[in-house]
Amino acid sequence: MLRMRICSALIRDAEGVANLVNTAFGPERFFTAEDRTNPDKVRALLETGKFLLLEDSGSLVGYVELRGERGYFGLLSVDPSRQRSGHGSRLIGAAEDYCRSAGCRLLDLTLVNLRTELPAMYQRLGYRENGTEPFPAESKLPCHLVKMTKPLRGPSGLG
Ligand SMILES: CC(C)(COP(=O)(O)OP(=O)(O)OC[C@H]1O[C@@H](n2cnc3c(N)ncnc32)[C@H](O)[C@@H]1OP(=O)(O)O)[C@@H](O)C(=O)NCCC(=O)NCCS
Repeated sequence: MLRMRICSALIRDAEGVANLVNTAFGPERFFTAEDRTNPDKVRALLETGKFLLLEDSGSLVGYVELRGERGYFGLLSVDPSRQRSGHGSRLIGAAEDYCRSAGCRLLDLTLVNLRTELPAMYQRLGYRENGTEPFPAESKLPCHLVKMTKPLRGPSGLG
């Protein structure tokens, strides 16, 4: 498997992170006109969690937050020119490792129900749907968030 050097974003990276997220989330423009994030929101999230990113490259990022026995992962963004090459899956793996090392037993994420191509990808990675939440922004179409969760087992595969 391709090795990736994953590091954590710093405050100075906020603008680049926001640009990458908004570029990657272009496919969501059909149901929301709003940018997915901005540098101020990224800086606020850096106070509650961390952005994992690919070192020396502005092409891959994801946000991860520790919430007691649960972790939360979101804003997974791969530059469009580098999608479908395994980068997204590997960053999810890095987020799982980080949460597992911090003692989390579960990792949560949400996706918009209109992104019908995404559940199968997360299911293959071990995530299962476990509820819904309201969509937290203006939308052009009726929609909601779908919650998915994965149990994080120890490195040996033992729970
Ligand atoms: C979704 C996203 C993060 C996937 O990253 P990626 O690096 O392209 O994904 P990978 O190459 O690791 O592929 C993971 C799996 O998902 C599948 N997949 C990835 N993108 C897909 C798409 N748009 N449609 C259907 N399947 C897709 C791949 O075929 C692969 O499945 P496989 O392992 O069985 O072959 C990336 O497309 C992206 O940044 N999209 C825009 C932002 C976004 O939607 N983020 C997630 C919101 S919940």
